[in-house]
Amino acid sequence: MARTKIAVLISGRGSNLQALIDAAAQPDFPGEIALVISNRPKAGGLERATKAGIPIEVVDHKVFESRDDFEAALNHALKTAKIDFICLAGFMRVLTAGFANDWRGRLINIHPSLLPSFEGLHVHERMIQAGVKIAGCTVHFVSADVDAGPIIGQAAVPVLPGDTEETLAARILEQEHKLYPACLKLLLENKARLLGANVIYDDSVAANGTLINPPTD
Ligand code: GRF
Repeated sequence: MARTKIAVLISGRGSNLQALIDAAAQPDFPGEIALVISNRPKAGGLERATKAGIPIEVVDHKVFESRDDFEAALNHALKTAKIDFICLAGFMRVLTAGFANDWRGRLINIHPSLLPSFEGLHVHERMIQAGVKIAGCTVHFVSADVDAGPIIGQAAVPVLPGDTEETLAARILEQEHKLYPACLKLLLENKARLLGANVIYDDSVAANGTLINPPTD
């Protein structure tokens, strides 16, 4: 059976992209990363993709007059590469409701907080300021509202005394790199799927799909 063709959309260093590349390199992984798209020509993640032999495209938002034109170019690249599924990994453009609806159920994102708390930007700084004791990350379907789609999986980490934005971000990132491939695999194997506004799971998935310290393999 043909493996699901995945595109990863990035804007920056691409450490989550790397985690997905490494996971997809395993022979039993049910998908292949067939395209990496960046809206920033200098994104470090592009080099990671090239090193792994994955085709790259730069769709620079700055050259388009409107968000719709930018997304039409994205869609063109995605359709040309016959992409089935999209992972956003540090992609710093807000997508329109039209794009989210077109790709509904096939478009996911990772966010460095336990959503629905701390959506948006500067989350590590805001979590430290708020004095939360438990932080984490979330993989979710993308819907018309930013950081608000149905949750697929979460991983939790402690916030420790003396944490800075950097130390907290690093602790969360370590979990992001495990959670993202684990959630993607669940979806590609149809062990988790979108049903209306919720995600439903196979009996084989523990604890209602909550991935606390998710599997590393
Ligand atoms: C990650 O923290 C991710 O959760 C957020 O943006 C960051 C991207 O980092 N959406 P990287 O480019 O994957 O290293």
